[in-house]
Amino acid sequence: MTTDNDMTGGGHRKASQDSDLQDVRDIGEEPFETVVKLLDYPMFVVTTAADGSQGGCLVGFATQASISPARYLVALSDKNSTYRLATRATHLVVHVLGADHRALAELFGGQTGDETDKFAQCSWRPGPGGAPILDGVAGWFSGRIIERLPMGDHVGHLLEAGTGQVLQPGSDLLTLNDLGDLEAAHGA
Ligand SMILES: Cc1cc2nc3c(=O)[nH]c(=O)nc-3n(C[C@H](O)[C@H](O)[C@H](O)COP(=O)(O)O)c2cc1C
Repeated sequence: MTTDNDMTGGGHRKASQDSDLQDVRDIGEEPFETVVKLLDYPMFVVTTAADGSQGGCLVGFATQASISPARYLVALSDKNSTYRLATRATHLVVHVLGADHRALAELFGGQTGDETDKFAQCSWRPGPGGAPILDGVAGWFSGRIIERLPMGDHVGHLLEAGTGQVLQPGSDLLTLNDLGDLEAAHGA
């Protein structure tokens, strides 16, 4: 928004910007972390497959990235076994979890495929590229991996949206705040 101060009082505006920054710093030693903690967002289970093996983990860092063409971005931690499998995979399947799917979130977020066969503990069938489609979720869609983007300690997987299904229309979704005490098996 442009104000009179912006156009006529550059010095005043600068002082005001400085005080805005000061306000942000005042809310904690780590302003970014403090503000990001305000956010709540849906949780997903993302699965993949390569060379006859299946993998999957709980994911919060995911978002639609384009409408036309339909694109979705999934960030996988470089510490996860799912990430290592995805380096050799062609597809991911993104599952939307309902509020009553905490057990699936615990299985895929609290355990690692390095130690546990998660797919022996849930019901699934192979989907595009062999990536598991889990039964009983609110919905899912598949995506072909068209780009891998280094983003820091996570790698972005840009998906070209493929097929999918809504299984529980209108159901409440499982969100980050529902999982406050769940510890990731592989840490951040
Ligand atoms: C609330 C929460 C959010 C998470 N978000 C992500 C995420 O966005 N991306 C990711 O790769 N891992 C994320 N994780 C971590 C993995 O789900 C977790 O380390 C998992 O056990 C890894 O399994 P894997 O080694 O079989 O891949 C999250 C975990 C929790 C508890």
